[in-house]
Amino acid sequence: MSQHNEAEIRRITAPDIRARKGGDPIVSLTSYHAHTARLLDNYVDVILVGDSLGMVMHGMETTVPVTLDMMILQGRAVMRGSKRALVVVDMPFGSYEESPEQAFRNAVRVLKETQAGAIKVEGGVRLAETIKFLTGRGVPVMGHIGMTPQSINTLGSFKALARDEAEWGPFLDDARAVAQAGAFSVVVEAVAEPLARRITAEIPIPTIGIGASPACDGQILVLEDMLGLSPKVPKFVKQYGNLAAGIEESIKAFAAEVRSREFPATAHVYQLRRKP
Ligand code: KIV
Repeated sequence: MSQHNEAEIRRITAPDIRARKGGDPIVSLTSYHAHTARLLDNYVDVILVGDSLGMVMHGMETTVPVTLDMMILQGRAVMRGSKRALVVVDMPFGSYEESPEQAFRNAVRVLKETQAGAIKVEGGVRLAETIKFLTGRGVPVMGHIGMTPQSINTLGSFKALARDEAEWGPFLDDARAVAQAGAFSVVVEAVAEPLARRITAEIPIPTIGIGASPACDGQILVLEDMLGLSPKVPKFVKQYGNLAAGIEESIKAFAAEVRSREFPATAHVYQLRRKP
C-alpha cells in the first residue's frame, strides 16, 4: 500500500485494529513529529507517539521524566502530519497509576487536546481495573506488557524478561487481564519468543511485538532506532537505514562550503528587482 486518494481517506480506528486479530500483520512505528508522521502515514496502520520521545528527542536516560504536556505537544504534531493511520499516544509515568479517575482525567486531556484515536498504558494485572474504567467510558486503550520501560527503577535494567519458562505465569496473567479489561490491542515487549507466541495464541486481542515474536499480530519499532539515527539500540532492532551517517555527511559538506564561501551561491540569494 503506498498511495491514497485524498477524498477516500478514512482514519483507522481502534476497533479496526481490534478486528485484525489473526489477520494481516499490523504495521506500527513511532513518530513524534509532523514530518515523519506524514512519511509513515502511507505505510503503517498505527503511529505510536511513544514516551520513548524522552530518550530519542530529549536525550533522557529513561522515559520516567516525560510529562503529559510533552506527550500532548508531540501528539498534536503527529495528528497534523497524518490522515490515515490510527494515532496512539503514550500516557507518561505518573499520569495514570494513582487511580482510574486520575487515568481518565489525563486520558481525556490527551484525546481532546491531540484528537488522537487511543492511548497506551504500561502494566497488566495491576492496571486491569483502570483499563476497564477507561474503556467503559469511551477511551480506547492499548496495553503494554513484558518489559515496561516506565518501571525501569524497579526492574533495574532494560533487559529481556521471562527467558525461563518457570517465570511465564505473571506475564500470561498480565496478557489475559489486559484483554479481559477491554484493551483493543497490547504491546508485548522484550520477552522470550515462545512466551510472546503463546500469549498471541491465547488472547483474543492483537499483540504488537517489539523484541517479541514474528507470530505476534503486528510489529512495532522506534523509528529513529530502525533508521540508524539512535546512537545505541537494543538487540531486537533491525536497522533499515543509516541516516546518522547521511546527515553527518550533509552537515560536513555545509560547514565546508560556508567556510570556503561556496555557499550561498548566486542561486540562493536575491538580486535587486530589475527596473521596468
Ligand atoms: O515509547 C515507545 O516508543 C514504546 C514502544 C517502544 C512500544 O512504548
